[in-house]
Amino acid sequence: MNKWILIILSLAFLSNVCAYKILVAFAYPGKSHSILGEGYVRHLLEAGHEVTYITAHPYKKPHPNLRQILITSVIDKFEFAQSLDVTKMLAKEVDFKDMFGIYEVMVTIANRSLTHENVQKFMMDPNEKFDLVVAEWLYHHLYAGFATIFNCPYIWSSSLEPHPVVLDLIDEVGNPAYFPDHMSPISPPFSFTERVGELWNLIYLYRVLWFVRDTEEQAFRDSFGAAAAKRGITLPNLYDLKYNSSMMLANSHYSLGDPQRLPTNYVGIGGYHIQDEIPPLPKDLQKLMDSATDGVIYFSLGSMVRSETIPVELKTQLLNVFSKLKQTIIWKFDGELENVPKNVHIVKWAPQPSILAHPNAKIFITHGGLLSTTETIHYGVPIIGIPLFSDQFLNIKRAVRKGFALEVPLAYDTPAKLEVAIKEILSNPKYREKVKELSFIYHHRETKPGKTLVHWVEHVIQTKGAPHLQSPALHVPLYQKLYLDLVALIILGLMIVKRVLKALCCSKTQNKKKGEDKKKKRS
Ligand SMILES: *[C@@H]1O[C@H](CO)[C@@H](O)[C@H](O)[C@H]1NC(C)=O
Ligand SMILES: *[C@@H]1O[C@H](CO)[C@@H](O)[C@H](O)[C@H]1NC(C)=O
Repeated sequence: MNKWILIILSLAFLSNVCAYKILVAFAYPGKSHSILGEGYVRHLLEAGHEVTYITAHPYKKPHPNLRQILITSVIDKFEFAQSLDVTKMLAKEVDFKDMFGIYEVMVTIANRSLTHENVQKFMMDPNEKFDLVVAEWLYHHLYAGFATIFNCPYIWSSSLEPHPVVLDLIDEVGNPAYFPDHMSPISPPFSFTERVGELWNLIYLYRVLWFVRDTEEQAFRDSFGAAAAKRGITLPNLYDLKYNSSMMLANSHYSLGDPQRLPTNYVGIGGYHIQDEIPPLPKDLQKLMDSATDGVIYFSLGSMVRSETIPVELKTQLLNVFSKLKQTIIWKFDGELENVPKNVHIVKWAPQPSILAHPNAKIFITHGGLLSTTETIHYGVPIIGIPLFSDQFLNIKRAVRKGFALEVPLAYDTPAKLEVAIKEILSNPKYREKVKELSFIYHHRETKPGKTLVHWVEHVIQTKGAPHLQSPALHVPLYQKLYLDLVALIILGLMIVKRVLKALCCSKTQNKKKGEDKKKKRS
């Protein structure tokens, strides 16, 4: 009897938990983006779904429900990684702020991943079927093409705080009077010049999007044309397809960014890449951190910048500054270093979350990538930011404004300024208090971000693309939003009234004149 109840119960349970087939397209070869991609993979596998993951950095934990389409070879041709040279940055030889350049390079990189033989072979197989695609937005819209090929809904994944360009895809760009561009290090309320500047940024962005549109359409056809033809599908315009997503899941949260007015189908899941259970530190690091009674300063410039491109004099001066401190320094550095002081511990690879989670972690010196700033708020560690490229300037400015960070710009005097900043953070408790306060706001949610992610993925599949979430703003042209048609109508009306009045006036005065003339004649 008991056995039967158990079987019925488990059958009921199984029918509730449907395993869906989900394609996670995170093909950008940057390491931090694959950490975000792995976040989706991990949570969806844990929820019992079947995941296919397109990536350049393989997910290390094998799972029976996981299949990977590897495009590792694109890393060799990854221009961006080669340009991340600290010496060149110091000489201001590299400019990462040129939007035309960024959009073009991103289309090229995505096209290279999509035309990779493994991806092509995968798409050509008529047996491949999916219930949903998770497509990363990263200055291009190409991954949306999988939704056309597999005839299923798709979700945009955005790696940044909400900003006009991504919101345009599901709602509208937002008002530049209080909604800054993702590269603007300002937050509302804006001054007059800032407000005008943001309007200009928006116009400029539209120019950029217009400029790359043809290249992107071409790359779309180059990438998906063959698979579409094989399946007998006519490819839509990418321009139409990119507005056809079900929703956007984003690596954002109001404890990390600024509060914004957002559409229903935008859901922030900031921090979903961080595991609930902190992996234990390796034995040597655990011992080092436990015994650091004056605390630990963790120094890492992220996974993209190669430490060996830091000029020798800068390295020497940094070590000199560190040698004067009582604290233990853990420096993530992938090159060779000479004359390393006793209190400095060099590691080629660092388990960053586990280090930040240790109670002795006092300061994190970081380049300010969004994953790093998210982790500092997650674990509540104040930071010193040395921003190097793209959104890092904005992330650090924001952290400074929120009161848990100091900024030290990259220059030849960085070590001296870093020393001042370290002393300030160690001696003034306000930075730590502030980051703990934000950490509370960050953790104080109805559900953990990973659960939210799974919920919305399943919601979109179960409601066949969640059309009920779609913003009506998506289908209202700009002239209607600005009521330009009404303005035109009013102007036209006024012109007609003026004409009529003029005509009436003229005829009256003429009549009057005629009458007077007649009178004159009679007399
Ligand atoms: C995309 O990649 C293919 C194959 O590598 C290449 O032939 C094509 O010119 C590329 N398209 C664009 C728009 O860059
Ligand atoms: C948009 O999505 C709907 C529903 O999934 C689909 O029927 C339609 O063909 C899609 N349009 C484009 C342009 O992809």
